Amino acid sequence: MPIGVSYMGTKRQLAQYVAATSSVTDDGPFLDLFAGICAASQAIGSTRPIWCNDAQTFSHNVASAFFCSQTGPSTVVDLTPKIAGFYEKNKSALTERFSDLLQDEQTALDQVSIANLEKCHATFPYFEDNLNTQKKRSALHRRPATFPYRLFSMTYAGTYLSLNQCLEIDSLRYALDRAKLERKIEQDDHRWACLALCEAIAKCSPTTGHFAQFLVPKESNKSRYFLLRKKSIWREWLKVISTYTPVGTASWRSENRAYCKDALELVARFRFLKSKPTFIYADPPYTDDQYSRYYHLYETLLHYDYPRTTAKARYREGRFNSAFSTKLKVRQSFEKMIGMTGELGSTLMISYPPNGLLKDSEIEIPKLLKQHFKKVNRVVKISHQHSSMGASKGIERHAVTEMLFLASQK
Ligand SMILES: C[S@@+](CC[C@H](N)C(=O)[O-])C[C@H]1O[C@@H](n2cnc3c(N)ncnc32)[C@H](O)[C@@H]1O
Repeated sequence: MPIGVSYMGTKRQLAQYVAATSSVTDDGPFLDLFAGICAASQAIGSTRPIWCNDAQTFSHNVASAFFCSQTGPSTVVDLTPKIAGFYEKNKSALTERFSDLLQDEQTALDQVSIANLEKCHATFPYFEDNLNTQKKRSALHRRPATFPYRLFSMTYAGTYLSLNQCLEIDSLRYALDRAKLERKIEQDDHRWACLALCEAIAKCSPTTGHFAQFLVPKESNKSRYFLLRKKSIWREWLKVISTYTPVGTASWRSENRAYCKDALELVARFRFLKSKPTFIYADPPYTDDQYSRYYHLYETLLHYDYPRTTAKARYREGRFNSAFSTKLKVRQSFEKMIGMTGELGSTLMISYPPNGLLKDSEIEIPKLLKQHFKKVNRVVKISHQHSSMGASKGIERHAVTEMLFLASQK
């Protein structure tokens, strides 16, 4: 089963068109250039080699796990005895450290009291609170394996998650790292488990499916908010991990690749390499909403690097900014991407809506394609449900018109 998180702009509906079109083109590697949660690659499956790329570490890990890992996740029965001792060790250390705060939080949650919970939130630790804690964060940034793990507890408690949930996340991450270090689990298992932890975070956080901002408790969301705050990350993690299965066979997956690069850099690099993709699917972002702002919690969980965080939403510093989501750079980015893929000789398929950040895309994309490819078609123009998930445009699911363009050299 694929990863069960909501992801902005994922192309579950369009994926079948991409798969059907690519199936009648030359064999060879299919490059999902802006893979997200790999909907198009999933639809294509093991019919040809799959190469996935995305600038976000989370997406890169999704691609690595589902398309490149040698084994699926171990069963819960195998995995839990290998990590339970480490988990308890970190959790006890943090529980001792934050015992009063945890007690107050539990009381407020039991009372279902917004006022008392907000009082707790105001007292929870945050690395950026003062110079002293900032220095501690910097030291941990240099030595992230320091015991006890406490990145989430000291960064997100009382925002996207409860303090207790943050303790569970830190302790699970500690347990997984220790188990890997002591060779009780392999790299593949570690990756599956970290992805499951991302999904457990999504299932426990009262957000609209992303982390651009956190919700505060109100009378209107009270019952859902308190319900989610009381959920156990550990229990959700156990439920999630057993749902994952990699795509195809291990020998097919060993031929696949997962990149974590800027799309333009990657395409530029292929010009000098012998092995090139034969089909490139480009599904760039359509709006000025930067993905790194929406999924920063997953990035931080996966990097576990004690980043400096800023703004009310506590975004990680130095997050990736896509030129495709930047008004002044989007046209130039399309020009570069189309020009360079034209040089590769690969078939290129682009999905984009008529009203995206690139102005007049319905005219401009085929115009650019015709400058660099011999044959250009618009494969389809359809309306489908797009998950903007309360992004800056404010609507959760709405119908968007999406176009698929196909360009080839023969
Ligand atoms: C519209 S989503 C792709 C959704 C994907 N097709 C799916 O079905 O899940 C765009 C993706 O492009 C990635 N992205 C944005 N700019 C990028 C860039 N310059 N290079 C690589 N990836 C980029 C984002 O992180 C995001 O995952």
